[in-house]
Order: sequence, then C-alpha cells, then structure tokens
Amino acid sequence: MANEILRMKDITKIYPNGVMANKNVSFTVEEGEIHALMGENGAGKSTLMKILFGIESYDEGEIFFDGKKLDHAGSAEAIKSGIGMVHQHFMLVDSLRVYENIILGMEPTRGPMIDAETAIGQVRELGEKYNLRVNPLARVEDISVGLKQKVELLKVLMRGARLLILDEPTAVLTPQETEELFEQLLLLRKNNHTIIFISHKIREVMQICDKVTIMRAGRSEGTIGVEGTTAEDISRLMVGRDVILKQDKKPAEFGAPKLRVRNLNYINRFGKAMLKNVNFDLRSGQIMGVAGVEGNGQNDLAETIFGLTRGATGEVLADGKNILGKSIREIRDLGISYIPEDRITLGVASDGSVWQNLIADRVDQPEMKSGAFLSSKKIEALSDELIREFNIRCKSRNQSVGMLSGGNMQKVVVAREFSADPEILIANQPTRGIDVGANEFIWKKIVEKRDAGKAILLVSADLNEVLELSDSILVMCEGELVAYFEDAKKVTEEELGLYMLGLKKQEALGHGQ
Ligand SMILES: Nc1ncnc2c1ncn2[C@@H]1O[C@H](COP(=O)(O)OP(=O)(O)OP(=O)(O)O)[C@@H](O)[C@H]1O
Ligand SMILES: [Mg+2]
Repeated sequence: MANEILRMKDITKIYPNGVMANKNVSFTVEEGEIHALMGENGAGKSTLMKILFGIESYDEGEIFFDGKKLDHAGSAEAIKSGIGMVHQHFMLVDSLRVYENIILGMEPTRGPMIDAETAIGQVRELGEKYNLRVNPLARVEDISVGLKQKVELLKVLMRGARLLILDEPTAVLTPQETEELFEQLLLLRKNNHTIIFISHKIREVMQICDKVTIMRAGRSEGTIGVEGTTAEDISRLMVGRDVILKQDKKPAEFGAPKLRVRNLNYINRFGKAMLKNVNFDLRSGQIMGVAGVEGNGQNDLAETIFGLTRGATGEVLADGKNILGKSIREIRDLGISYIPEDRITLGVASDGSVWQNLIADRVDQPEMKSGAFLSSKKIEALSDELIREFNIRCKSRNQSVGMLSGGNMQKVVVAREFSADPEILIANQPTRGIDVGANEFIWKKIVEKRDAGKAILLVSADLNEVLELSDSILVMCEGELVAYFEDAKKVTEEELGLYMLGLKKQEALGHGQ
C-alpha cells in the first residue's frame, strides 16, 4: 500500500459573488501516483487546486499534506511543504529570460540571493535529470508554448515540489509535445513525485493516469482506478450520459468558392517564412481542416486571413474582394468570423461582463438599438439566449468574464462568433480546453453552419478533431501546403502524420480543387 500524501476533507468554497464552486469535496491522493481530475467546464477543478496551492481561500474543510495540517495563509506555505502548481494559463513574464522566470520570487525564501550563475547551472542540471531541456538564457517571448511549459515545470521543481498540480497541461500542446510531457511525467513518478493531472481528454487520462477523480457541479463523484475502467464509464460519470465524439454528418455538398487564397506569403517578426506560396479554395458547404505540427504555419494562415498579421503578400479573396491588409472591422463586416487560438489575449475582455463580450461586435448594428440608443432589452434577451444555447455556466449576464472557468470563457467566444451568422468561419482550435459535452455541441454547431452553406476553415492541433469534422483536409509543413484531400474520409491518421512530418509531399498541388 502506498502512503497517502494528500487528504482534502469536506472542502466548501463560495466565491464572493455567491458561486459555490466546491461543495463538501473530499479528495485523497497517494504518494507516487498520477491522479487525474476530470469534470465539465465549471465543475470546480481549478478552484479545488487553487485552494490546495493556497492561492484561493475556502469556507469549510481541512487539508492534510504529508500527515501535517496545512493552515493555508497563501501559497508560501504550500510551496514550503512541497506543493507546486502549473496553471491553466501560464504565468511567465515574457520579457524576462528563462532562468530569471524560474528564480523569480524565490530569492527571499532561500536566505541569500541566488546568483545568476548558480541558477543557470541548476536549470541545466534539472533539465538533464527530468528531460526538460531549455536554454536558460532564452527570452520567454521567443520560445514555443511547449518550451514555456517546460519552464513552468522547472520552476516548480526548483522550489522542491514533490506534489505537482498540472491544470490542463496538454490543452496547448501538440500530440508530439504531449507524448514528450508524458515521458517526463513518468520519469517524475519514478522519482517518487506525485502528480495531479487535469485534462478533458479521456484518452490521455487512460494512457497516463493511475486513478481518476471526477467532479460534477462542484461535488466529487468519487475516485476510480483507471485499470478496468472504460472511456464510456468516465464520460458517463462526468456528464451523466454517454458522449459519442463521433460526428454523423450528411455528405457534403460543396458550392461556389467563398474564399480564395492565392500566392500567400508571410514572414514573421523573427524573419522566418511562415507561409510559402499558399494556394487553396474554400467552398460554400465545406469544412476544410488544416492539419500540421504546431508552428508550421497553420496559426499564421488563420491569423493572416483574419487581418491579425502585417506584411503578408498575395491575395485573400472573399467573394471576390481582396481582404489582405484590411482591418479586422472591415473583414468582419464582410461576413467573416474568427475563433482565436488564444482566448485570453485575443478572445475576451476579461474585465467586461458576459453580455458585453457576447455582443461587443454588434453594438453598432440597428437590431441592437432602439432609436439612436442601445436597447438594453434587446441586449439582455440576446445575451440570455446565447448563455442558454451555449450552456455558458455563469451566475448572470452581468458577471465579469474573468471569473468564468477556462472552458466557459471559450464558450463565450464561440457563442459570439457563431451568433454573428458569418458566411465564412475561421475556427482556430475551437474546442481547446472544452469539456466533452460542450465539444460535442460545438462540433454539431459547426456542421449545422456547413449544412446551411457556410464555409469553414478549421485549424486544429487535435488530429482526431480534424478527421472527425472535416470534409476536406489540407496539410501544412514548414509553411507550405504539402497535401490536399478533397475527401477527408480517404486519408488515415497515419498517412496525415507522414505529410505533417515532411516525410511525404504531394506533387503538383494546384489550387486545392
Ligand atoms: N474568481 C472567481 N470569482 C467568481 N467565480 C469564480 C471565480 N473563478 C471561478 N469561478 C466560478 O467557479 C466555478 C468553478 O470554476 P473552475 O474554474 O474551478 O472550473 P473548472 O472545473 O476548472 O472548469 P474548466 O474545465 O472550464 O477549466 C465556475 O462556475 C466559475 O464560474
Ligand atoms: Mg479549470
């Protein structure tokens, strides 16, 4: 029998706005296990972990770590006891170097200041030991998401953590980076570290975790061993019904091209060519998936089409008009919507309320006004309808978006973009951080749009999503389109992988169709 390392007992948490995020939750973890925490968006997972880490207060309950009761006056005590947390949204300072981020805030608790050289040495040493190699001198703003996560892990390990809390670490990773992370986690487990792993992806939990605790509407539904449990069992416990992440859709009926991309080239601010002579057509009634290993231009493609990059050359024709270089406002007015990859910086204004975020882009439209003024009745009715339809878990439309759970923020963005009724929808990682139930719903919405004759460009790092949802698939590698499959059913995951890795390339790739 392994030792119990953590016991959280009857934790209840009510936020100042009255939301009861945890109700009598009991949660125990044994030393040396990888323990998953699963549950729908807003179920209370992040809250429970913030309480454990001492950065959120709680109203009732007790916490024992390593046999000792934690008093919990801030995170200093948790860190000192050996608890570390990597948050759902990274907390690094972009302008600082890797090693500076790692020792940030560490100096006072360790007596004498750590000098740069020692810190750099320690970063290298830990990097070797746990297979977390990062250049300590690189600036955080210049490194990839996968590397940033390694920095977060190193930061936690440098502080001597034996229990690591990882809040949705894989949501932002590519399949390859995820595999790498899993190897690191197994290495940590071998060294007797304990890991709490939050994820919405059942497949990952089945692959890497020993146990899973399921939360639902602030309560714990219990803990089960992963061995002998099926994915169906878990999803039933999470949402109370079977979720089938399979998309039954009618055969596609492609219409006229709605978006034509011609000779698109883009060089990013580091001087790297991210788009190299990209050509394709997106048709009405078509869901075009874009597959690729992260960083191979898919994100640049989506952002360039939507006017979020500067200096691209070529043409992006929306119903015949070149939109390249136009402002986001003008692009929106032409009936194009965008679900951004990074919802925190591009997606929502976190100080704003739910309703402000939901209808921010429409306040100029006559339907929102009565006379020259904004009609509060119309705004209220529309916001409430969207909150209901997209199942956004919030207390009211007036709640600030910054207080929603990660997945619910994403639903606000998706609801806003869908309700604008776009002719062309650019969905850049639309279901990242979204629970299985909501994922199913968003897929259904995307298919509905396609059946209504709209054109959808779907960029996703989740190959399963690309394969399930797309009618046609483009593959990008190093900024180039290397393959086009008009019928997505004719390609397998393995074959896509070969193109994504640059091991295979279609000759004479024309304009896509
Ligand atoms: N700072 C806050 N103030 C008020 N309410 C909050 C705050 N943070 C979270 N909540 C609410 O508490 C509930 C639980 O949120 P939490 O972030 O713990 O969910 P989660 O299970 O982590 O969800 P997700 O999978 O979307 O990340 C939600 O209803 C959320 O709106
Ligand atoms: Mg969360």
